[in-house]
Amino acid sequence: MSKKPWGEDGKALDGVKILDFTHVQSGPTCTQLLAWFGADVIKVERPGTGDITRGQLQDVPGADSLYFTMLNHNKRSITLDSKSKQGMAVLERLVKSCDVLVENFAPGALDRMGLTWEHIHALNPRMIVASVKGFGPGPYEDCKVYENVAQCAGGSASTTGFHDGIPLVTGAQIGDSGTGLHLALGIVSALYQRNRTGRGQRVLCAMQDGVLNLCRVKLRDQQRLAHGPLKEYTQYGQGIPFGEATPRAGNDSGGGQPGVILKCKGWETDPNAYIYFITQAPVWEKICDLIGEPEWKTHPDFAKPPARLPRLKQIFERIEQWTMTLSKFDVMNACNELDIPVGPILSMKELAEEPSLRQTGTVVEVDHPTRGKYLSVGNPIKLSDSVTEVARSPLLGEHTDEILSKVLKFTPRQIAEIKASGATGEAPKAPENAIAAE
Ligand code: COA
Repeated sequence: MSKKPWGEDGKALDGVKILDFTHVQSGPTCTQLLAWFGADVIKVERPGTGDITRGQLQDVPGADSLYFTMLNHNKRSITLDSKSKQGMAVLERLVKSCDVLVENFAPGALDRMGLTWEHIHALNPRMIVASVKGFGPGPYEDCKVYENVAQCAGGSASTTGFHDGIPLVTGAQIGDSGTGLHLALGIVSALYQRNRTGRGQRVLCAMQDGVLNLCRVKLRDQQRLAHGPLKEYTQYGQGIPFGEATPRAGNDSGGGQPGVILKCKGWETDPNAYIYFITQAPVWEKICDLIGEPEWKTHPDFAKPPARLPRLKQIFERIEQWTMTLSKFDVMNACNELDIPVGPILSMKELAEEPSLRQTGTVVEVDHPTRGKYLSVGNPIKLSDSVTEVARSPLLGEHTDEILSKVLKFTPRQIAEIKASGATGEAPKAPENAIAAE
């Protein structure tokens, strides 16, 4: 047993080396989480450009974009042209010295590079090869997929939006970041199994599968439809018939407790002056008192949940008359005192400024040599004995020399040859540029 106090005995994944061959959002989300838990994440990037997101949605000219910096904390970057002979030789050395290869290239790209599962497994039987793809095996397995494609193909879009409107995608990146999260769990599980078997394995997360997993309750409702209308959906109370598939349910709560978004004081000018309000059965009587309708507690039209279902519109209109007299925070305070669950609609501005999120490290300020200070979302998973420190993302190729010498133990002459071949491109000098002795 460690004698050190909580939070001072290293990181959960200390000693795990990740060959990070990811780009854009899904794969980088996964490897960033692993890095936060202490894994040594070595990001392999194409010389010259690197991860395409470095240059996407740039706000500060010439500096890595927030898109990149917010998804690649705590990693090291090496530039390598995987299509060159020397580059592949370096990559193979990385395969031999790492525990996990993570990639989210288009289907077949890794094989085309020559890094088939068989080849990787022969080079390093302990290596875990983890991939994000758009679809699993089947008719669409060769397709390239981005976030919104996955949201549509995984059932989210068909169940998001209002009943009489078009399907909507959600702001939460459930296709990319959601699948990255799934992949991280797969990797940690495979590492755990490797402790027993000594063998690596493949981990595959298809974005369609990840989104569908997050839409589990909608597949639940699909099957409930066979036994009658979904009575907790607002459309039931409005007399709108159900079709063959789970419909879009607006802001209805997914858990069987009626809920909607209601206006609060200031809604006329503030687009986020709203609150999510749930008429949860156990607190119904408290709600009646709060909104000034105490007689609803015993009235046959309102006292019991089934009686309320056809009258939800009227009920929520009455509750909204009350919420519109208060700010969303005052509504929350009043409700929380009575254990009535409500959710103020918090803007990104409010979240960025929320002191408690800064204190827990969920929102962090990070300094970066070329872009200066910026806000990021820190590790949302808190381990008491493996505390996360958020470090800035690497510059392109910043650690090329360090990785070639210290991790891969190439000699100075070998490093010079690799560089002369153009396999690493023109890498900027790393802050600590020492090359280990031969
Ligand atoms: N050196 C040399 N070549 C490299 C390289 C390196 N370091 N890194 C990547 N490449 C090459 C690949 O080998 C591939 O070449 P090939 O097509 O000749 O085989 C090429 O770069 C492009 O890779 P690809 O993954 O196809 O990029 P893309 O920009 O065309 O597609 C995605 C992007 C995201 C659509 C695609 O990667 C994809 O579908 N990924 C899986 C699903 C996914 O993660 N989607 C969400 C992303 S957030």
